Amino acid sequence: MYTHLQLRDSARPPVSLATLHKMKADGEKIASLTCYDASFAVLVDEADADLVLVGDSLGMVIQGHDTTVPVTMDDMVYHCRAVSRGLHRPLLMADLPFASYPTKDIALANSVRLMQEGGAEIVKLESGPSQLEIVEFLATHDIAVCAHLGLKPQSVHKTGGFRVQGRSDDAAERMLQNAIDLEAAGADMILLECIPTSLGQKITEALRVPVIGIGAGPHTDGQILVLYDVLGITTGRQPRFVLNCMAEAGDNLTAMRQFVQAVKAGSYPAPEHCFD
Ligand code: KIV
Repeated sequence: MYTHLQLRDSARPPVSLATLHKMKADGEKIASLTCYDASFAVLVDEADADLVLVGDSLGMVIQGHDTTVPVTMDDMVYHCRAVSRGLHRPLLMADLPFASYPTKDIALANSVRLMQEGGAEIVKLESGPSQLEIVEFLATHDIAVCAHLGLKPQSVHKTGGFRVQGRSDDAAERMLQNAIDLEAAGADMILLECIPTSLGQKITEALRVPVIGIGAGPHTDGQILVLYDVLGITTGRQPRFVLNCMAEAGDNLTAMRQFVQAVKAGSYPAPEHCFD
């Protein structure tokens, strides 16, 4: 009864949180990409990504908005369900979008939607001290949770832009303490966006749970990028952490494989992708 998933393809058993914990313990890097539809999901799986995020970045790269703020729960469920149909091996994470977790009960109801209707296995929410109780509530209801710290795109209208976070000693200390508190509250994973390399290293070393970085330096347990950036589809000014693998690869699957291999080998991120 409990083995049917593993038996689907025993050479490539599905990634679980336990797999990611073991990877952290063994020093094996976790390679992760965002994804928004079934066709790309098949390729991301084939490329051997460990973790796939249906990110609310879909508001920008799929829907053409300037921010992630307009993304709704219905949008997230729709794209997550499509991605889940294409995946076998990677763990599937989905974002709780802007204003979908104002209270513990609403956060729980929306997480359940992402899991039951969308097929998500872990939910991610942009976090800080105000989300501690929500993370704890979700954890006690058997929801796997990733807390997103650093640059939080859903707060962009409040914070005034997409900027590197945690640069001052005070801000770095607060973020480290936040991460420790979120882990204690039951977060199963932490995602760090756009912070200095030294802070990415400190937080990763302070936590037992896997830490995934985007623009957080080479010392996090894993790396994630927006798929369309890796495939060179995104136009305009790119953040410095972006790696366009399409330039050399020539086709989608090869580009995704190159990204996964660069993460595993530790050649991505290089110093030019990181912040001081
Ligand atoms: O929405 C998203 O794609 C994300 C990544 C940038 C990590 O949160």
